[in-house]
Amino acid sequence: MTTMAPDTGSYEAVFDAAVAADERIEPRDWMPDAYRASLVRQIAQHAHSEIIGMQPEANWITRAPSLRRKAILMAKVQDEAGHGLYLYSAAETLGTSRDELLDKLHSGRQKYSSIFNYPTLTWADVGAIGWLVDGAAITNQVPLCRCSYGPYARAMVRVCKEESFHQRQGYELLLTLSRGTEAQHAMAQDAVDRWWWPSLMMFGPPDGESAHSAQSMAWKIKRHSNDELRQRFVDICVPQAESLGLTLPDPDLRWNEERGHHDFGPIDWAEFHEVLRGNGPCNDQRITRRRQAHEDGAWVREAAAAYAGKHRDTQGEAGA
Ligand SMILES: [Fe+2]
Ligand SMILES: [Fe+2]
Repeated sequence: MTTMAPDTGSYEAVFDAAVAADERIEPRDWMPDAYRASLVRQIAQHAHSEIIGMQPEANWITRAPSLRRKAILMAKVQDEAGHGLYLYSAAETLGTSRDELLDKLHSGRQKYSSIFNYPTLTWADVGAIGWLVDGAAITNQVPLCRCSYGPYARAMVRVCKEESFHQRQGYELLLTLSRGTEAQHAMAQDAVDRWWWPSLMMFGPPDGESAHSAQSMAWKIKRHSNDELRQRFVDICVPQAESLGLTLPDPDLRWNEERGHHDFGPIDWAEFHEVLRGNGPCNDQRITRRRQAHEDGAWVREAAAAYAGKHRDTQGEAGA
């Protein structure tokens, strides 16, 4: 036990040096309050996105066209629940609780990714989500495997492996539809037409308008800017769309020899902000369903807590 007041200045110097040397910050290390708060915000938002993201796809489990597709989709949706668990656990290492975070989600004080406020109208949407939404998630998350906060970085390693399976199943589903009947091809194209722009919005606002970006990059929580990652994603998708035999709904999309990247058309940020404000097509539906699922699961949490309590008591007796 220290009798002197802690010298925050020297703690801060140790923290800064660790970040500069690309070392990992671990839960028991000293960290600035703002770093902790920023991580809680980001990891919570990420965790909420994983579990809310189960809804649009779960919508198709009962209507999957074959047993094989149903088994794949069920596995994928379960993976997303698992991602939520790793991430809530990572957030808990920062001194918050899962109850507190879920409460903030349910009361609208914490956000989840806007992409999940769009509806899944046809079976092809399951393919488009896997290919584009999980694809965008991977592009965002691979650099997070090198995030300065240890528990978050380690959670991302496993998440990314599973996301790449999600991306491939979506691609394979779309390829099957694209090579199928005329109606199936049209359904695949329609899904890509609807999911393309919202996927680009997943990288967040342009660099100049991104509220937390600069500080997150200085702390090495974030490794690349929103626009940089968005460009990377577009460059990856263009040849994949060609192989799929589908077109991306952007007349301005073309290769720019000089930049060595694809140019693309303007993003409708007004739409993004509307969805963010709660006015997307499914915002109310998603949060109502989430609250209901939480209430429906109350007995499971109570039973688990009672069981753990009983287990502790018997262990206590055995140890006495
Ligand atoms: Fe996920
Ligand atoms: Fe996923």
